[in-house]
Amino acid sequence: ETTAEMQRREQELRDKQEQLVQAGKLATLGELTTGVAHELNNPLNNTGLFVGNAIDLIELGMTDKGQIVRELRQAMQQVRKATEIISHLRTFGRAAPVSREPIPLRQVIERALSLMRQQLRLREIEVTVDLGREEPVVVGNPIQLEQVFINLLTNARDAMADSPRKAIRISGSVGPAIVEVAFADTGDGIPPGLERRIFDPFFTTKEVGKGTGLGLSITYGIINEHGGTISVVSPPGEGATFLIQLPLATPGVG
Ligand SMILES: Nc1ncnc2c1ncn2[C@@H]1O[C@H](COP(=O)(O)OP(=O)(O)OP(=O)(O)O)[C@@H](O)[C@H]1O
Ligand SMILES: [Mg+2]
Repeated sequence: ETTAEMQRREQELRDKQEQLVQAGKLATLGELTTGVAHELNNPLNNTGLFVGNAIDLIELGMTDKGQIVRELRQAMQQVRKATEIISHLRTFGRAAPVSREPIPLRQVIERALSLMRQQLRLREIEVTVDLGREEPVVVGNPIQLEQVFINLLTNARDAMADSPRKAIRISGSVGPAIVEVAFADTGDGIPPGLERRIFDPFFTTKEVGKGTGLGLSITYGIINEHGGTISVVSPPGEGATFLIQLPLATPGVG
């Protein structure tokens, strides 16, 4: 094969990967809608209450403008909160050119959790995050890395649907050049022999309409693009643990 041919193929692969990432984002976005509707409900309700108070005060002939302004300022703050939720979703849905920046892993995980919080709470899934005392920073695309954790959270949620104990534990340990994140759940685990296949595109054990089988292949692609690795261990009866290794941002560079 000529070099040009190989380059063309590589570009083709990269384009496909980008399309997969995009398709995955849209699928996740659909799932998130319910949770987000709930998250928005809260600031909107509060806005209504504060504005209502301001109207009451004016109608009652309150001469102290200070109190009215306080109510309105609080309303304003709630509007900002709602706007923030929406703008966050917008960036998530956009096919942004893949930029890279140094980013604390904790921030990535927190953002993914904040989008999933409502869903996890509803199912009484307990989440613990323990990254230790260090603050691992990786170089990457925040949206893509967030997608990785959303995919893992979604899978863990589904795997624990019928589990007596529902818990997700995300722990990190920092080495000289890499950070390893263990993402463990207390779900059904992965049947022996399927540990590799679950990363294949369109491999799913979920009913038609429930899963596309793209989540983990996208996750694999993203981690790979970030110079990392992802694997899974699932001893019988102990749920599944995904292990992610990512290169640390070089101190002083990035
Ligand atoms: N935490 C887990 N515990 C047990 N099985 C899992 C877990 N995560 C993934 N799997 C298995 O791997 C399969 C593939 O996962 P993947 O995320 O790629 O697709 P999906 O979840 O089925 O569909 P999609 O993510 O596209 O909605 C799942 O159908 C499930 O069988
Ligand atoms: Mg999935």
